[in-house]
Amino acid sequence: MIETASYSTQTQSSAESSSSSTSVIPRDVLHKYEVENNSNNLSVETILRSKINEAVVENEAFYVVDLGAVVRKHQEWTAHLPRVKPFYAIKCNPDTAIIKLLASLGTNFDCASKAEIQQILGCGVSPDRIIYANPCKMKSHIEYAKASNVELMTFDNSHELIKISENYRNAKLLLRIITDDSKSVCRFSTKFGAPLDTTYGLLKLAKDLNLNVCGVSFHVGSGCMSADSFVSAIRSAHRVFKEAEELGLTFNMLDLGGGWPGSNNERIDFRVIANAIRPVIDDLFPAEIEVIAEPGRFFVFESHTLAVNVFAKRTVQEPTTGDKHFLYYVNDGVYQSFNCILFDHYTPTASVLIPGEDNTQYKSTIFGPTCDSMDCIGKDISLPELHVGDWLYFKNMGAYSVAAASPFNGFKSHPTTFYMY
Ligand SMILES: Cc1ncc(COP(=O)(O)O)c(C=O)c1O
Repeated sequence: MIETASYSTQTQSSAESSSSSTSVIPRDVLHKYEVENNSNNLSVETILRSKINEAVVENEAFYVVDLGAVVRKHQEWTAHLPRVKPFYAIKCNPDTAIIKLLASLGTNFDCASKAEIQQILGCGVSPDRIIYANPCKMKSHIEYAKASNVELMTFDNSHELIKISENYRNAKLLLRIITDDSKSVCRFSTKFGAPLDTTYGLLKLAKDLNLNVCGVSFHVGSGCMSADSFVSAIRSAHRVFKEAEELGLTFNMLDLGGGWPGSNNERIDFRVIANAIRPVIDDLFPAEIEVIAEPGRFFVFESHTLAVNVFAKRTVQEPTTGDKHFLYYVNDGVYQSFNCILFDHYTPTASVLIPGEDNTQYKSTIFGPTCDSMDCIGKDISLPELHVGDWLYFKNMGAYSVAAASPFNGFKSHPTTFYMY
């Protein structure tokens, strides 16, 4: 039986005078995305159930996005790292409602390509609030950055420096250095970052080319599990600042990159990282040095909950025990939102939206909708028996999910999204 929820569909037009908290969400976001005011603090489960009853067409998969979760993350950031200006890495989730919300809260943006820069400029954000943080850039994208007055960008090798000197001499450059990324879920140091024994030579070359290098950036790897990784990268950055001083270069910016956790748990807690790095930054970098960071996952991991529908089912027998094992086929998979299983090493947790009376657990496997057997969301997990038409939901689906979804096999890549606050 589907529970009938009394979820309010009040939008800002009627809510703005009554709810001071709602006023944090920009007016155009409230209207364009029909953001619903959850002033009754209904659970996400209740909201998902109400959407199934009221709004979902043909049992399609859908997201509920809590913009309030993004606001809370912004508050957490400013409370614990007041000196560090966040540049949201939009690759993580380029949802325009989230971008506009973060822009209105004063967050700046990290873009990796021409199209990402275009999206941010299209949201009305000024170019001086963008860092083009891709150390290896296409010439045409550099030209676009120049034409759009996006000045700040990263580099990590001599070829890139020469390319920049030929195409955008006045750019403000940050030298991205290599870090110890061994404590991170997604490691980047095989692809990006100048080894520390090359930084002096790179700075010397930049000086000879008369380029404007103004600081250091790093990325400890995405999903970093260690505050020490940040601390040691900050210390390395400080050594490069000293090299710049020796060469007579004036540095004024330190970029702490991404890697910040999306939720606080016993393995890693943003506040632990913040507490560890604050004194080190203050000790090594005088107040006039601008400190920025490029958090992605931090802002959006917790904001998205995805509901998927079981559209097919098979029953097989466990070869050794003869026990029943159910295979479920749901309408979002590894080629869509769940690409995070492959690319982000994520293990999503499935929950049953409307539990039945019988809670007997069976070994179950959940497949996505395509004809590829790799399109598997979870193997051998324990679930009560589900039926065609039942719903599963997955919390914490905001990071590196829809951002890389594809329409492979003709299935919808971007589920309908409902916004709430
Ligand atoms: C240059 C750069 N900055 C920031 C990020 C965001 O990282 P995270 O989501 O771990 O904070 C990434 C992620 O790939 C990146 O490549």
